[in-house]
Amino acid sequence: MARPATIFSCSACGTQSPKWHGRCPGCGEWNTLVEERAPAPGAGGGRGRSGGAGGPGAAAGRAVPLRDVRVERTPRLHTGIGELDRVLGGGLVPGSLVLLGGSPGIGKSTLTNMALGHLAAAGRRTLYVSGEESAAQIRLRAERLGAHALEVPVLAETDLDAVLATMRAEGPEACVIDSVQTLHSAALDSAPGTVGQVREVATRIAEVAKRSGTAVLLVGHVTKEGSLAGPRVLEHLVDCVLQFEGERERTYRTLRALKNRFGSTNDVGVFEMAANGLAEVLDASARFVGEATRAPGSVVLAAMEGSRPLLVEVQALVSPSELVPPRRVCTGLDRNRLALVLAVLGRHAGVGVGAADVFVNVVGGVRIDEPGADLAVALAVASAARGVATEPAPLGCYGEIGLTGELRSVGHPERREEEAAKFGLRTIVSPATAPTLREAVRAAVGGRERTARAA
Ligand code: TYD
Ligand code: MG
Repeated sequence: MARPATIFSCSACGTQSPKWHGRCPGCGEWNTLVEERAPAPGAGGGRGRSGGAGGPGAAAGRAVPLRDVRVERTPRLHTGIGELDRVLGGGLVPGSLVLLGGSPGIGKSTLTNMALGHLAAAGRRTLYVSGEESAAQIRLRAERLGAHALEVPVLAETDLDAVLATMRAEGPEACVIDSVQTLHSAALDSAPGTVGQVREVATRIAEVAKRSGTAVLLVGHVTKEGSLAGPRVLEHLVDCVLQFEGERERTYRTLRALKNRFGSTNDVGVFEMAANGLAEVLDASARFVGEATRAPGSVVLAAMEGSRPLLVEVQALVSPSELVPPRRVCTGLDRNRLALVLAVLGRHAGVGVGAADVFVNVVGGVRIDEPGADLAVALAVASAARGVATEPAPLGCYGEIGLTGELRSVGHPERREEEAAKFGLRTIVSPATAPTLREAVRAAVGGRERTARAA
């Protein structure tokens, strides 16, 4: 059988070429040509993109009022991991495609293997496809995860056609592909993991999954650069994109939905890597507050992770610098936001850190991505710069900082306050208690007088 021909098309302008070029002959962009299967001749265009669309011979489709559209409500598959189910919006939807992204070593294989284990124990048909590890390696991991995980049928295979054939033969209700970057379609010449291959693999798997009602979890590595042949090209193709984050060396990991066709993207799950797999952390706030240092440079942020309040410790260190410009380092926060907060602190709140290195860290390896974090960063830096602990310690806070030095309100103040009160934070500095950053700093670490006395 002749191998189907492939073409290269530019992802920017759509120009097609039989050969790969580093630079698109059409629009002149670099590195935009992606290998694709060529449309079958005379088949009316491979993906309906070319050929007689709208031509006089085309039959008209029938539009139906939404009220009359039939919806089959199939029950979701519960993975037995509460935090995962919650982030998915209540479990896996049959026939859906979920992309689970995360850096290597974060625990994607562990999480998916555990999920399939629970499903298998509940009598569901499952399949774990690994293109990365041998069956023996997967077994070694599963042994740590307990008896359920050992129930899962495993296929160590990198050839896409073989994987699809197995999926058709086994008809699993839930299937994990670990990872989408390691599978290889023989229809394309390019190497596994390239944009063309990743797209082809996901599209063909989606076809099979939709037809058989299999819920597929596609595991994808996110490279440091974020996009390089990464699974980002799949985001529009899948129903749900989950991101598994955290630092490999730390114990805490967060799972959040970046896109979810069947639920909100508001929820976040917190996990901890233990000796026998990932454990759900249900009392994250209690732990972070309990572990807070109460030293100069530490505050507790009453954050909202989507619809869930979460208390986390934010720490800062301010130290004289030899470097021009001085260092600005933050983990778990947006760098540009740090720059903005430091500028407003200097300009409007009398806390200048111009010639000092500033390090800011969200403790526990959690990543916070919300405007309410501004005030915590500012107060941690102010407390570190002045060398005095907040009063009281730990001090809770939240609020967005405006460019003119005002504090702006953020979503769900009641839920943040409630969570803080629940874990013993009596004083909360927020836009409700201080209209400006200057007043918030005074409330947290006092004016210059108190600082002088402390020094
Ligand atoms: P893994 O799930 O293989 O990560 P990924 O698939 O995202 O690359 O596991 C990540 C790390 O977790 C690995 O370095 C070993 C560690 N680990 C534990 O600490 N406890 C466990 O029970 C397991 C299974 C793994
Ligand atoms: Mg893995």
